[in-house]
Amino acid sequence: MLAEPVVFKEGRTFFQIYPPEKKEKGFVPTNLKVFYNPLMVSNRDLSIMVCAALRRKLGRAITVLEPLSGCGVRGVRLGVELENFFQSILLNDINPAAYKLIKSNIELNGLRGIAYPFNEEANFIMSLFSQGDWRLDYIDVDPFGSPIPYASTAIRAARFDSSILAFTATDMSVLCGVYPAKVFSKYGAITSRTDYSHETALRILLYRLSLIAGAYELTINPLISYYMDHYVRVYFSIAKTSPNTINRIGYISHCVKCLYRSKVVSIEDAALKCPLCGSKLLLSGPMWTDKICSEEFIKNVLSDRSLEYLPSFKRLKSVLNTLPLENDMPPFYYDIHVLCDLMQLKVPKIDFLIDKISDSGFKAIRTHFSNRGVKTDAPVNVLKQILFSLSSKV
Ligand SMILES: C[S@@+](CC[C@H](N)C(=O)[O-])C[C@H]1O[C@@H](n2cnc3c(N)ncnc32)[C@H](O)[C@@H]1O
Ligand SMILES: [Zn+2]
Repeated sequence: MLAEPVVFKEGRTFFQIYPPEKKEKGFVPTNLKVFYNPLMVSNRDLSIMVCAALRRKLGRAITVLEPLSGCGVRGVRLGVELENFFQSILLNDINPAAYKLIKSNIELNGLRGIAYPFNEEANFIMSLFSQGDWRLDYIDVDPFGSPIPYASTAIRAARFDSSILAFTATDMSVLCGVYPAKVFSKYGAITSRTDYSHETALRILLYRLSLIAGAYELTINPLISYYMDHYVRVYFSIAKTSPNTINRIGYISHCVKCLYRSKVVSIEDAALKCPLCGSKLLLSGPMWTDKICSEEFIKNVLSDRSLEYLPSFKRLKSVLNTLPLENDMPPFYYDIHVLCDLMQLKVPKIDFLIDKISDSGFKAIRTHFSNRGVKTDAPVNVLKQILFSLSSKV
């Protein structure tokens, strides 16, 4: 017997979840009969902003499928907080208890006729929508861990040229290279832990997704890709044009000793030894080294003043304003604390450091990946000289 559901509120939407099964300190999502993680509110807020932008772009009501819905909070929030934006919102989960909750959350919010519950396997349900006009406008894959087992069917079920696909990956330890054999078998890449692993994780995910789309002769175009809290998330469109993946992927060479790093376009060009200290270089990749967002799409997303009430709007706005600047920078950043530790220096104020790098004729910006990070085209030896010159002044 399941305990009676309790009512929660997120954004402007009320919905039910089952209470925790055991008494524990704090709210532990894995202790629930049906998954719900309140910390993912920003993830869901952004999907609301993205669907609103897609609706404006297409100029018609859109169709949505969330194949792994949990209690259905994401889809129900879409239906409530973007009234009249949808032709249909299909909410599926393999767990019968989740299906029951999805049904009652649809009823609770008066969404019958717009939102539809399903109790199927995610790949099975997506396959049903993989042909012609059955294809969907927005598919949101938000699983436990890696989204790769669902990527191929999701891509096949999305309309070419007009749809948006969203994928969350929470298997950060795999994507950050803690288990090298796992990242290779799941993502077809090698990587090791560095101070910019969160960015490598995002780029390895994009690489793998681009390859899966490429198998269907589709090109992915990242609209918004970012790291937050404990996950990476990508939104992209697909186009039926000949994929040019080879020019959009590459590698990074990394020196553990002096923290030199460099983008490598082609594997034949990868040096074995660090040009600065002669140590052995580690190679990460293949990974996506092209743009991680569309500036135009982000402008569209942020133009909707009516969504400023969303609980994490301010936080998301700050990330969304930074992403376009990151497009034109190298595919890695420097954690200034790690560099200063290595050099035994006091850490300067990041904005001050950025000004000094710019004064030296290099580009430098903050990165959304880390509040201790700086993206710059200055090589590490120049960066170290600047840090030295600042050390007596901080
Ligand atoms: C991370 S939760 C989803 C959270 C939800 N997207 C949200 O925003 O709250 C993952 C869900 O996937 C469901 N699931 C796991 N494997 C599945 C499969 N093969 N097909 C369908 N659902 C599955 C689980 O029951 C769980 O509810
Ligand atoms: Zn070195």
